[in-house]
Amino acid sequence: MHGSKHIKTIEWIDGAVRLVDQTRLPWELVFKDVSDHRELADSIRRLEVRGAPAIGVAGAMGVALAATGSGAGSMDELRSDIQAAAELLTSTRPTAVNLRWAIDRSLHVANDVSISSKDELRRLLIDEALAIYEEDRELSRMIGRHGADLIADGDGVLTHCNAGGLATAEYGTALAIIYTASEEGKRIHVYADETRPLLQGARLTAWELMRHGIDVTLLCDSAAASVMARGWVNEVIVGADRIARNGDVANKIGTFPLALAAHRHGIPFYVAAPYSTLDPALSTGTDIPIEERSAEEITVIGGLRVAPDSVKVFNPAFDVTPAALVTAIITDLGVFRPPYGPSLLAKNSPSDA
Ligand code: MRU
Repeated sequence: MHGSKHIKTIEWIDGAVRLVDQTRLPWELVFKDVSDHRELADSIRRLEVRGAPAIGVAGAMGVALAATGSGAGSMDELRSDIQAAAELLTSTRPTAVNLRWAIDRSLHVANDVSISSKDELRRLLIDEALAIYEEDRELSRMIGRHGADLIADGDGVLTHCNAGGLATAEYGTALAIIYTASEEGKRIHVYADETRPLLQGARLTAWELMRHGIDVTLLCDSAAASVMARGWVNEVIVGADRIARNGDVANKIGTFPLALAAHRHGIPFYVAAPYSTLDPALSTGTDIPIEERSAEEITVIGGLRVAPDSVKVFNPAFDVTPAALVTAIITDLGVFRPPYGPSLLAKNSPSDA
């Protein structure tokens, strides 16, 4: 029904990566071809491609680009070029664990000693990137199906940042649930936070939902609690960049205050993410690395300086919402509810029981 409207955020075409340049939306839908892994690393840093699952796919494709572009004379040299590229790509964005997870999958292939030919290794790295891409498309559909049951006809859903098709290979995480519920015939009204400083909600989520004919109202971030107080929001659904074992969730800056406001109003606060967003190495969210970005993202809007030149700026790109405020975590494996620790690790959601 909505199928034709879903854009391929990122694709591997003829040995290069084709991505939607998200810095140009909503003004124009532009596809950019990238054939060098260093250029792809810059695209990730500049948020031309963004959103945890999408940058995971980009990371794996970046490793494949490095392998195909390397003129190494021996297998050892090729593996060392691949390792250097993997480190560069991993360093681009520290919070989203999906990036490291996908690159590690590619490195696992690269370090398989049973592969003895350079061409075979290059081909297998392309295959691994394509597998991660295809899996991501499928995972998004499963997140949509698991989450749609939690939404009723006529609900108002508040979301933050962009956890839609643009943030994944195709369909989304938080927005996948809205697409699926809508495909089931439920009428949903979405409140999209603009998401300062880079306006992923205003530029991307509003654009993406309108393109799909989903009823959406844009809010400035600071209006969210008032909209909840008016009784317009039945649930909040956001994405995630990393989830600790205890269920603490890192997501776009401004997510934590939303969870506090939802708690105050007795509104369910759902996090939607592929299972690969769980970082089993971290017991709590305290140790999640939080990316800090440039001051200009806050002091300059649309080329216009809006703050004094020398003002000190703190610009964290993500915050951590404590597990106690998270009603459920909706993944491709099912819906996890508190207490998260053991059930998340065992991959046992109540729906398995
Ligand atoms: O800085 P961004 O735009 O990459 O931040 C994206 C988010 O915070 C998303 O909510 C998260 O990556 C999940 S996307 C399905």
